[in-house]
This record gives sequence, structure tokens and C-alpha cells, in this order.
Amino acid sequence: MIILGIETTCDETGLALIEFKNSRFRILNHKLRSQNNIHSVYGGIVPILAAREHKKNLPILYQQLIREINFSEEKIDFLAFSNGPGLPPSLISGKEFVIDLANKLNVNIIPINHLIAHFYSVLINKNKLNIWQKIKTISLPAIGLLISGGHTLLVYFESLDKIKKIGETIDDAIGESLDKSARILGLEYPGGPKLEKLAKKGRPIFNLPYPLMATKNFNFSFSGLKTAFWELVEEIKRYKKLDEVTKADLAASYQKTAFEILLIKTKMADEKYKPKSLIISGGVAANYYLRKMFIKYFGKNKIIFPVKSLATDNGIKIAFSGYFFKDESILPANLEVHPNLKI
Ligand code: KG4
Ligand code: ZN
Repeated sequence: MIILGIETTCDETGLALIEFKNSRFRILNHKLRSQNNIHSVYGGIVPILAAREHKKNLPILYQQLIREINFSEEKIDFLAFSNGPGLPPSLISGKEFVIDLANKLNVNIIPINHLIAHFYSVLINKNKLNIWQKIKTISLPAIGLLISGGHTLLVYFESLDKIKKIGETIDDAIGESLDKSARILGLEYPGGPKLEKLAKKGRPIFNLPYPLMATKNFNFSFSGLKTAFWELVEEIKRYKKLDEVTKADLAASYQKTAFEILLIKTKMADEKYKPKSLIISGGVAANYYLRKMFIKYFGKNKIIFPVKSLATDNGIKIAFSGYFFKDESILPANLEVHPNLKI
């Protein structure tokens, strides 16, 4: 069976062709076009520009995807499409392309929840284990922590298809907060990876607040942290120039505080639910400092991270998730997008 996965929920245009045979899978080809250079000048994603780019790039990338490997498109069995949550204009651009292609190829569409696909990305292993064997390596029940540009949530996995949300951010997502604090330091969008690089050279010497830590629930808040950071930077600027050393110390302090907030709430969830494993996914899970911090506390056998290159948005995780949801495929005419889709 061959599934074409398509990702257009935000600002990455991702396509991937995956073949599934005898419970194993093979990525035949994939394409990912980032729009960072377009949005970086605005300091964040401009939804209407993101949609325009998806519309322009989808047919180009699709042609490259199949031509590069001399693939005949009639072999595609399903289109897996991430239909939410995401930016409405981006989702609509993707939807139009997917419906046209599904009609042309006469195949059904598998709608994929982008959040679930982030979690399932940890199953995409490099050493090509049998999919079901890989699943068995994840001990259940598990706690899932999704940390991305649009989402910060904790979930409880009774099984891989029985997922319950136990906490989420009440304001900014962690990735959004890293992007905003990076911008305060003059770094371009997306700031998360740039802040990580700068933080490596600094020391976490500045104290910042830990919002919502006294509450017993598993919700997060990052907007107060970002405001406190902005005030701190403004105060420093009043009496001295923001030199590279101070910037690096500020980056290290922000990153450490933001990740400790994630760690504290995850520890609380671990104490209450006593899971056997911890699945951490989403763009921010690409961060090496965060990985080290969580592994130090939970031990490396309990935590499952995606391969670093698959932590951020891509078409591979959508095609891969399609395999698990193929029984829920629909006719192209029935496809809807859900900008606020939940778990
Ligand atoms: O999962 P993702 O690609 O998109 C959403 O679903 O939102 O996550 C994007 C987010 C951005 O906020 C980006 O700054 C952050 O992930 N990110 C990182 C790193 N790489 C990407 N944050 C911290 N460290 C990184 N290395
Ligand atoms: Zn994502």
C-alpha cells in the first residue's frame, strides 16, 4: 500500500510517499519547503502569505516528488491530509489541492489530526523495525508531552489510540514563547533554534517567574514569562548596551526557565499517573538542551523522542499516520478542515 502524506497546517509545505509492505515501511521520497525567509521579516507567520505559498508550491513539489523517482502516480492508494488544527488559510490551500488530486487519482482521503501525527512521529524509526515491533517498545500507559509552535499539551495514553488530554497552555504555546523571546533579543523567526544556539554560549544567571506552578492541575502559562523577560531586557537596556554576552545569558535564562516549567508539570503528571513511558514530540522536542534536561530526570529508557529531523512539521509523519487511520478514509467531497481540532 502506498500513501501520499500532505502537510499544510502552518508554514511548512510537506509531501511524502510511503510504501507499507508486510508491516514494514519505506519512505519512497519526500519534499519539505519551509517559508522561513518569507515570514522572518514580519517576526511571525502571516497566514495569508502562508496560504499563498502552499498554493504555489504544492503542485511544484508534487511533480518533483514523483518525477525524481520515476513514480507512476496511479500506484497511490490513499492521500493522507492533515486537516487540523492549523491556520484556516493554510488548511484551505491544502484542502483544495488534496481534493483535486484525490479526484484525479480516484482515491480516498485519510484525514489526520496534526497533533496525533506529532505523537506518532516517534514511531518512525531509522532502523526500519517492523512497525508493530516498534510499537511494542513503547510501554503503556504513557504520558505524552506535545511541545510545538502552536500547542503545548499533556496527554495520557491508555493505548496508542486511546488518548485523553490532561493539561494544556492557557495562553502562548512553548514554541511561540521561544519565538517571541528570541525576537526580543533581535533574532529572526523561527527563534527557537536560534535561541538554542545563542543559549549554548550563555549562563542562566537571570531569574524569571514560573507561572501556574502552585496550581495542582497540568496547565501551562507562558505569556507572563515572556512579559517578564521583555521587562528584564528593557531594564538592562536602560543602563547598558545589550552586548553578545548578556544576550547569550538572557537566552540561556529564558530557555532554562521555560523548559523547567515543562519539566515540573510533566513530573507532576508522572507522579499522578505513574506512566511506564513518556513520549515527547513537536518542534521544540528538536532542542538538545531540553532533551538532556528531561533525560537527566526521567532516564533515557523511559523517554521516547522523534528523530530530530522529524520533530518539526513534515509530510512523512502525515503519510505514516495515515497507515493507522486508513479505515477512516473518506470520499474527497466529504473532506473538511478544522482549524481548532482537538485531541
Ligand atoms: O511542530 P512545529 O514544526 O510546528 C507546529 O506544529 O507548531 O513547531 C515549530 C516550533 C517553532 O516555534 C520553533 O521555534 C520551534 O518549534 N523549534 C525549536 C527548535 N526547532 C524548532 N524550539 C527550540 N529548539 C529547537 N531546536
Ligand atoms: Zn506541528
